[in-house]
Amino acid sequence: MTQYQIAVVVGSLRKDSFNRKLANALVKLAPPEFVFRQLQIGDLPLYNQDDDADQAAPVKRLKSEILASQGVLFVTPEYNRSIPGLLKNAIDNASRPYGQSAWAGKPAGVLGISPGAIGTALAQQHLRNVLAYLDMPTMGQTEAFIQNKEGLFDANGELAGDGRKFLQAWIDKYVVWVKKHAA
Ligand SMILES: Cc1cc2nc3c(=O)[nH]c(=O)nc-3n(C[C@H](O)[C@H](O)[C@H](O)COP(=O)(O)O)c2cc1C
Repeated sequence: MTQYQIAVVVGSLRKDSFNRKLANALVKLAPPEFVFRQLQIGDLPLYNQDDDADQAAPVKRLKSEILASQGVLFVTPEYNRSIPGLLKNAIDNASRPYGQSAWAGKPAGVLGISPGAIGTALAQQHLRNVLAYLDMPTMGQTEAFIQNKEGLFDANGELAGDGRKFLQAWIDKYVVWVKKHAA
């Protein structure tokens, strides 16, 4: 059985992050040949082009984990109608030096959750723009703008109800997408 390693990037460091909760619950809906690993991005330096020739250890670690993956899953909050700086910093760090981006060609899925009704839609659109430049084939449909409503998670933090059905269909499509585009 071919195994698919998926790098999960959560755009929040908050202890009780809804996006991390969503990521943790979502990956449980995937088939066993998909192995998910959350990337640590909170210890990365602020990106500085002067460091390109000698990248810090956390940047090298991040890049090697992405390179070892067959796909990437971004689960992000929306901050001020865009992606959090934390996430952009991780993307920038792993995209350099020029010509040595770790992201290129990795199939991606994008989703996010917020208390508000638009469910990170604007952040996701901004992220899609960045991923297009980075040459990441990004699943267009189904879009997943998730509002954190009562009943989405059960008492154990598992997805429940209609939300679970929707996200099961989403991850099923993502699995097909990764298999199609994995290098
Ligand atoms: C700096 C900041 C900016 C925010 N901007 C938005 C926003 O533009 N749209 C939105 O729906 N929620 C916004 N929020 C609320 C977040 O959706 C909410 O804090 C969410 O819980 C963050 O995700 P997390 O739980 O994974 O940390 C913002 C929160 C912060 C801290």
